[in-house]
Amino acid sequence: MQVDWHIASVPDWQADAILFYSFEDSQGPLPGFGRWMESSGSWLLQSTGMKDFRGKFQESAVYHGPQDAGIPRVIQAGLGRSEQFNLDKLRGATVVGLRKCRDFKLSSVAVPLFAFEGLPVPAASALEESLVAAALGLYRFDALKTREVETTAYPEKLWIMVEEGPDEALRRVSSAAESLISGIELARDLTTAPSNQVTPGFIVSVARNLAEKHGFQLQVVDTKTAEEMGMRSFLAVARGSLEPAYVIILEHAPSGVKQDAPLVFVGKGVTFDTGGISLKPGLNMGIMKHDMAGAAAVLGTFEVLGREKVERRVVGILPCTENMPGGKAYKPGDVIHTLSDLMVEIVSTDAEGRIVLCDALTHALSYQPAAVIDIATLTGACVVALGNQMAGVMSNREGLLQRIQEIGTRVGERVWPLPLCDFYFENIKSDIADFKNAGDRSAGAITGAIFLKQFVPGHIPWAHLDIAGTAWTDKDLLTSPKGATGFGVRILTELALRWHELGIS
Ligand code: BES
Ligand code: MN
Ligand code: ZN
Repeated sequence: MQVDWHIASVPDWQADAILFYSFEDSQGPLPGFGRWMESSGSWLLQSTGMKDFRGKFQESAVYHGPQDAGIPRVIQAGLGRSEQFNLDKLRGATVVGLRKCRDFKLSSVAVPLFAFEGLPVPAASALEESLVAAALGLYRFDALKTREVETTAYPEKLWIMVEEGPDEALRRVSSAAESLISGIELARDLTTAPSNQVTPGFIVSVARNLAEKHGFQLQVVDTKTAEEMGMRSFLAVARGSLEPAYVIILEHAPSGVKQDAPLVFVGKGVTFDTGGISLKPGLNMGIMKHDMAGAAAVLGTFEVLGREKVERRVVGILPCTENMPGGKAYKPGDVIHTLSDLMVEIVSTDAEGRIVLCDALTHALSYQPAAVIDIATLTGACVVALGNQMAGVMSNREGLLQRIQEIGTRVGERVWPLPLCDFYFENIKSDIADFKNAGDRSAGAITGAIFLKQFVPGHIPWAHLDIAGTAWTDKDLLTSPKGATGFGVRILTELALRWHELGIS
């Protein structure tokens, strides 16, 4: 779907359909609807349809006008009750409206800027959210289908209708939306594609393309270099697989901020997680192709940072490997000498995420970071605790926890804090090493985070996002059809954009 501005006086507007929003209560349709009707939609006054539409959230109505009308169809999307309004409602209503347009195979849909007037949020952010939601709700992954594929992605064009302008600020909003879309789609494509295509080497090629396109520095650490660097923990997991493993390091350092302490984003890039010697059950194991969603979210974020030329130094560290059983695979009972020099006893080779992440976290310290954020499909326990529409967040800073939660709520990537008290360490005490990589079944998501916390000194703000539940959806959601969600791109992007305002140190 191509997004464009369309500048003309209202009676001259042309498109296959136009989208308006409506509240469920006495507020009814937003005022823009009336404005458009007065000038171009008088045929609507003769229709009874409008009186029947309630404006309930996730409902929509379509009104068909005369064929010679400049815009012969109106889609009205329900926002629900006005006092319950939030951006999720706007995003959801937009998707419902546009999916109607797709069902009808309409080519162009008009969204007037004044359609957002009367919402309790600035028109610019309403526009941005609607544009992002529209693209994400219509997203499809059909790269691997050769039969029965829709060759045209309807609607082909989304026009933002204005009578004059738009000014610089509004143009920036629509291009920012397009950058976010591009980043999230990249994360989704990579995560949904299977592990025989998205190997660690393939992720390297994606990182290389991004680096060339946006001028990032790229360092590709292969297993030989990892050995020299002392990343024995990462290598312990990589050893079980014949597929070459890499730690990818991307750096976005615009000239004005080159010397700043960077934000470091660490993303789990396990391209397939069999569990290793602690083999997972076979049923639905294929879903474990998405165990690199953290790495994909970081790459998606870099796409946005590069396109938007964000003035912040950001480093991405992506340990990428398969977790396989094999003659050389690491085994339960092994003790690993990590890059940090801490000794870790392996009780389950299926708790491999933390084993690749710990060396990446240690390496992150060499950048003297302003903060480290890791993002990982780390634990099934997080899915048990929070389900599929809420990620877990754990941090060594209360403030950072709250900021991430606020950001997540606003952008539609919901996260909820879990506690990180020191007594959880009991769970991973080891008889023969410094600690072990898993505990009993209790507090599994927190145990994973407590493990990671051992590798981050207290003076560095750190947060851990467990996206095991949110990275993938088995059901169609409003802004995410079945498959990978691209969860995390928006939170990480916001953190980079607004880091200084957040006041974290
Ligand atoms: N990749 C899995 C976690 C996961 C589970 C992601 C479900 C997405 C959906 C992770 O590597 C894993 O296997 N974790 C174990 C940890 C346990 C052995 C301590 C788990 O959750 O069972
Ligand atoms: Mn695992
Ligand atoms: Zn895993």
